[in-house]
Amino acid sequence: MRTQVAIIGAGPAGLLLGALLHKQGIDHVILERQTPDYVLGRIRAGVLEQVAVDLLDEAGVGARMHREGLPHDGFSLAFDGRHHRIDLHGLTGKRVMVYGQTEVTRDLMDARHAAGLTTVYEAEQVSLHGFDGTRPQVRYRHAGEDATLEADFIVGCDGFHGVARASVPPSAIQNFEKVYPFGWLGVLADVPPVHEELIYANHSRGFALCSMRSKTRVRYYVQCSLDDHVEDWSDARFFAELKRRLPEADAARLVEGPSIEKSIAPLRSFVVEPMRFGRLFLAGDAAHIVPPTGAKGLNLAASDVGLLGRALAEHYRGSDTGIDTYSQRALSRVWKAERFSWWFTTLMHRFPETGDFGRRMQQAELDYLVNSEAAMTAMAENYVGLSLD
Ligand code: APR
Ligand code: PHB
Repeated sequence: MRTQVAIIGAGPAGLLLGALLHKQGIDHVILERQTPDYVLGRIRAGVLEQVAVDLLDEAGVGARMHREGLPHDGFSLAFDGRHHRIDLHGLTGKRVMVYGQTEVTRDLMDARHAAGLTTVYEAEQVSLHGFDGTRPQVRYRHAGEDATLEADFIVGCDGFHGVARASVPPSAIQNFEKVYPFGWLGVLADVPPVHEELIYANHSRGFALCSMRSKTRVRYYVQCSLDDHVEDWSDARFFAELKRRLPEADAARLVEGPSIEKSIAPLRSFVVEPMRFGRLFLAGDAAHIVPPTGAKGLNLAASDVGLLGRALAEHYRGSDTGIDTYSQRALSRVWKAERFSWWFTTLMHRFPETGDFGRRMQQAELDYLVNSEAAMTAMAENYVGLSLD
């Protein structure tokens, strides 16, 4: 097969890039290792920046998001037994959209199907060739047959464990990483949210987050040890621990219910430089991971492909400025989101190794933050998302 752009991975990054390229009339094929149901079955976060909302609209897949998503003008920090609201809209004129990544992925998959675009699911043994030359190729096996896809460019949207980044010679790539000494235990349950906005709690027993997918489905998290196993945490234990970390009024109001999903995720900050290698580009989790505290993962994947989609369209209109500056421009936004996610994680989680002094530092920073309009504005500006350009 021959195409203009070969995309590896049909997660949100690959699917959104496909939708944006389709709008630009650029031919492309997506190769995905898993089945559609598997891709849809992954539970991920659900807070969209305005930049991501605009890109989903630009790709023509925003209708259900605007119908079913929940625009939020703020969120609460909870510590010392009370709420401290961060007025996102008041401080920045912007808001965020609470809409699950699973729903975003479903909308993109439906639109792709409706447009009759080519996605090869269950593509096995994907390998990349010649991206340091002029005729890149992707080889793979599908339905027991070997196949080759020739393209002008290859885009690795294949996540952290994908083949694209792994195909780059180690000498050509630099990794930056920080692993956090704890995880997040997350529960999905069909109960009404404890509060109309998200609550991020800093507590001596550890971090907690009360988020939602709708007015009848919640996503709650507690900081847990990396030695913990999901089996150690019954629903009852989870809710009891969550309530201990929330202000009393919230704990009293919180409705418990059976978990429909429960999982533990490690926390990591990870970035590779650069994000382009000849005719191979990396986007999304293939190039960077953020701890989930700032809900930046999906938003960074969207902004990467927003930049790359425009750059590839410029290339086919005759200018290579976009593709030649993609890596530097994407990394500039990535590092700022990494900094915010690291800062928010450091502020809100329990780090036993930092001792009493570390705890006092957190308390002093929280006290300063909620009493300084300048500090709250800086936080709000990063939370709603920095501009794309
Ligand atoms: N061949 C083909 N497909 C692959 C391969 C491979 N060798 N390796 C991985 N994939 C597919 C995966 O099955 C997955 O569907 O690539 C896709 C990558 O999707 P994601 O991991 O969701 O990454 P991305 O699209 O960049 O989305 C980033 O996902 O993990 C969250 O927090 C993260 O919200 C962020 C978003
Ligand atoms: C989520 O809804 O899963 C979520 C929301 C906000 C975060 C992280 C996760 O910061």
